[in-house]
Amino acid sequence: MIKLLILGPTGFTSKLISKLAIADQEINVVAACDITNIGDDLGLLIGVKDPNNIKINDINNLQKVINESNPDVVVDFTVAQATEKNCIICVENGIRCVIGTTALSEEFLNKFEELVKKNKAPAVISPNMATGINILFKMASILTKYLADWDIEVLEAHHHRKVDAPSGTAMKIGQIISNELGSNFEDIAKFGRSRGPNKRSVGAKNEIGIHSIRAGDIVGDHTILYCGPGERIELKHQAHSRECFANGAIGAIKFISTAKENKIYSTSEVLGL
Ligand SMILES: NC(=O)c1ccc[n+]([C@@H]2O[C@H](COP(=O)([O-])OP(=O)(O)OC[C@H]3O[C@@H](n4cnc5c(N)ncnc54)[C@H](O)[C@@H]3O)[C@@H](O)[C@H]2O)c1
Repeated sequence: MIKLLILGPTGFTSKLISKLAIADQEINVVAACDITNIGDDLGLLIGVKDPNNIKINDINNLQKVINESNPDVVVDFTVAQATEKNCIICVENGIRCVIGTTALSEEFLNKFEELVKKNKAPAVISPNMATGINILFKMASILTKYLADWDIEVLEAHHHRKVDAPSGTAMKIGQIISNELGSNFEDIAKFGRSRGPNKRSVGAKNEIGIHSIRAGDIVGDHTILYCGPGERIELKHQAHSRECFANGAIGAIKFISTAKENKIYSTSEVLGL
């Protein structure tokens, strides 16, 4: 059984992950920490029977919780600021991390990678754990190879509660396309277009537009437009519910529990794509 610690279990995505984890025969949820609902019964909160009767612990007690519950794996879908603090504590304790939180800083990612090697604790970090979007990443590489002279634009839409923009997934799509073009993403990314004179630098090698919509309860849409003279191709992924992310997280928890290389894995690697 994989002993699992859940960070932020009251969140929209983590509630679903908690539900699936408690029901899973290979996973034993040993602890959960958050900044809210401290002392509440996790099973009651998410509406399932939890055989371990886990109570939500204060995230400020994370080290004590780790000492007492001795988890093998931690899953974190919270906010970047929290992840950057809490997952450092976890990896320093040799715990294997599955991180779905987006908008992580370069500084954190570099430090975390060093700690993964030093503490021999492999991790999964992925801005989108849905199977379909990871297949879309592959398709984007292939299309970009053939359509490097066309204009390429990325559109994403999410619920109005989302704190970061553009989405981590849109950033990853932009990076995949740039790599394929042999360009530096930061040099060619154009984030939104403002009012006034706003000429596009024609061709994806010169400019990839990235556009964000924040509205209502949209779970997560990503579209890549490949536009050439007189025609276009659209690659589109829509998450209908958070189930696809939660299923992906459970797959990542199982994968990382036995992963051999001390490195940061992507969901593409988890899925064997
Ligand atoms: N990788 C993926 O597949 C995927 C899918 C969906 C969402 N996400 C990302 O996951 C994150 C969470 O998204 P959400 O929509 O579930 O958000 P949410 O706001 O519903 O949940 C965030 C959770 O984090 C908790 N939290 C906040 N500060 C904390 C701290 N200091 N310590 C511990 N817990 C803390 C909150 O109490 C809450 O439970 C976002 O970064 C989002 O972009 C990733």
